[in-house]
Amino acid sequence: MSAEIGLIGLGTMGASLALNIAEKGFDIAVWNRTTEVTREFHAGAGELAARITPTETLEDLVQAIARPRAIILMVPAGPVVDDQIAALRPLLDEGDLIIDAGNANFHDTERRAKAGGFMGIGISGGEEGARHGPSIMGGGASADWDRVAPVLTAIAASAEGQPCATWMGAGGAGHFVKAVHNGIEYADMQMIAEIYGVMRDGLGMSAAQIAEAFRQWNRGPLQSYLIEIAGEVAAAVDADGAPMLDVILDKAGQKGTGRWTAIEAQHLAAPIPVIEAAVMARNVSARLEERRAGEALFGCAPRRLPGSLSLEGLERALIAGKILCYAQGFAMMTEASAQFGWDLPMPEIAKVWRAGCIIRSTMLNDMATALQEDPGRNLMLAPLFIDRLCGTQGDLRETVAECARSGLPLPALSAGLAWFDMMRTARSTANMIQAQRDFFGAHGFERLDGAPGKHGPWAHG
Ligand code: 6PG
Repeated sequence: MSAEIGLIGLGTMGASLALNIAEKGFDIAVWNRTTEVTREFHAGAGELAARITPTETLEDLVQAIARPRAIILMVPAGPVVDDQIAALRPLLDEGDLIIDAGNANFHDTERRAKAGGFMGIGISGGEEGARHGPSIMGGGASADWDRVAPVLTAIAASAEGQPCATWMGAGGAGHFVKAVHNGIEYADMQMIAEIYGVMRDGLGMSAAQIAEAFRQWNRGPLQSYLIEIAGEVAAAVDADGAPMLDVILDKAGQKGTGRWTAIEAQHLAAPIPVIEAAVMARNVSARLEERRAGEALFGCAPRRLPGSLSLEGLERALIAGKILCYAQGFAMMTEASAQFGWDLPMPEIAKVWRAGCIIRSTMLNDMATALQEDPGRNLMLAPLFIDRLCGTQGDLRETVAECARSGLPLPALSAGLAWFDMMRTARSTANMIQAQRDFFGAHGFERLDGAPGKHGPWAHG
């Protein structure tokens, strides 16, 4: 019997996805570069093994799949994907489809999609999500999506009865949305880490007390997977009973998706300072030796806060930061949608992020509602979030101010606050920039009063 779909790459994510597909009742053929991995995978698949055809060559894989074929690639992003496509193409027939489900740079996906018979989809949720229900952001030709949607919607997570799998647009749209998801993931994690730092260094709380604060917040407006696991990691202890957080080196890794988002935002002229700050913070974290040297030289600022910050205030600061971060991320996608001609389905993006993915949270429900009311409106201007920002921005300000005084760095939260303050300033200071540009380069300016004349009376030496 022919398999309904194929999958290449039985690493952690690929293996989990293959089991998920088989469990949902689809026959699947799998192949891995190392045959031993394929055999072990099949041997360990239990009762799902009956739905899985292990193959030892690419030719066998292709032959095992019903036409027109659909083959999912779960291989490392980058040149490996191009190599795999090149190896597969000669074996495929007209109408066959290669689906790259890795974390590809969307520019690569755009390029690969041009040849046809290819679609890029973003999958989020880590190993657990891949196995039991990820969030899927589809891209490529809509007809191709429709063809594979029965499988992808069946394996996806669901929120309020709807599958978290949606077609975002042509070409690289799915991978673009996944990149923004990851940028937001970086920012959410950074803001959580900053508040963790306030509790640890500013308030002198123990890891167990910090865990309790996160647990409590996870029952309120901040409910989310990342807050939940922040509570779990803060509560965990190693074999000696030491808090795990106290034994983990403070150098953050990154595979690059957050950086791509920041780079793309610059190309689009889309302000996403919270995400940019989160990427910057990971880069600074990696410079451990310099930080140690810096502490030896300048580390004299008292870090313990004087006591005006409460846990309730920190929760509200985090709520404000989160709203501002998502407002920036969604605004970036609105901008990209216009510049790339995609027509990204903004409310649907919020909906597919409600379950399955790393940034899943209850707040995304409200974001979906706000985007449904007006998909192009900045979230910070939506009534629901205006109220919440009014109720929380004072705490964000207080937290940022207190920490600045005590030398506790809050790069993402303070970047969010600065953006918020700029966004509520009708008369900015860019008139000074314009005057200087005109002064040194005769670049011209517009006048507030609309009167003619676009150059100043500058006396050039
Ligand atoms: C997801 C994650 C996933 C992966 C990131 C981690 O949505 O499931 O984003 O894609 O965990 O690639 O990225 P960094 O290694 O850059 O932190």
